[in-house]
Amino acid sequence: MLIRKAVFPVAGLGTRFLPATKASAKEILPVVDKPLVQYAVKEAIAAGAEEMVFITSHTKNSIMDHFDRDYELESVLREDGKEELLAAVHDVLPEGISCVYIRQSEQKGLGHAIRCALPAVGDQDFSIILADDLIANGFQPVMAQMHRVYQQFGTSVIAVQRVPESETHKYGIVQVREIEAGVSEIENIVEKPDPSEAPSNLAVVGRYILTPRIFRLLDKTGVGAGGEIQLTDAIRTLMTEQTVLAYEFDGTRYDCGNKLGYLQANVEMGLRHDEIGDDFRDYLKKFAATLD
Ligand code: G1P
Repeated sequence: MLIRKAVFPVAGLGTRFLPATKASAKEILPVVDKPLVQYAVKEAIAAGAEEMVFITSHTKNSIMDHFDRDYELESVLREDGKEELLAAVHDVLPEGISCVYIRQSEQKGLGHAIRCALPAVGDQDFSIILADDLIANGFQPVMAQMHRVYQQFGTSVIAVQRVPESETHKYGIVQVREIEAGVSEIENIVEKPDPSEAPSNLAVVGRYILTPRIFRLLDKTGVGAGGEIQLTDAIRTLMTEQTVLAYEFDGTRYDCGNKLGYLQANVEMGLRHDEIGDDFRDYLKKFAATLD
């Protein structure tokens, strides 16, 4: 019961960060010193994944370059005796981890992106990480927490968290029946409902463990909220055939799909950073004192 394949839908245009994302992928935007997508890959590896499946588009070559070896850079760092930097470069993709890239030629929504992963995933259970949702560890990385639930119950698991009722229109929203602390069975799931129609304020965040049945259901899923093929709609059908669990994770989530969440992630991860954390804290305290 191991999840070997992790899917990263990274084909989106990243329009909220233009012009920064005009020539480079939004997933390459750094939080302190690592691109967003590297946090996502690290999290998948920490949960035991060995094959990273990226669903990309034509503007995303920087993601492929990032996870490729750069022998010239490595030899310069080695010659200069910069061992720490060399280790950081190696750490981008540890030994034994492979990457597969699949082009999503048309942007028809998250469900469509996930359907594109079928040739790489096949008939295995798999995970999905949305790199925009950066989650700083609680007691362990979130996908590893979810993996524990998956091993216990042997079925699909989706990460959820409470959001303000006024924000339900930004998320997939679930209605659940609790099984044990933090783990519930999903009884209904709706994509981006208006607060007046939301079944709860429990929102899906970008972490899923799914069975491969989802691919066949995505084939039959028509256009949903926002005129897109929604993963949420295929999950609603999956629930009628198999148990789908919601897991309330331990950790702090930053919505790096928008500027404020991205800046918050940089500040908080900067404060926790080994090299600059203390200096950054001093700076922030002094700077905050100058604000009214
Ligand atoms: C996607 C999903 C949504 C989920 C969200 C989490 O929406 O469709 O159900 O709540 O990710 O970040 P997006 O933010 O891509 O519009």
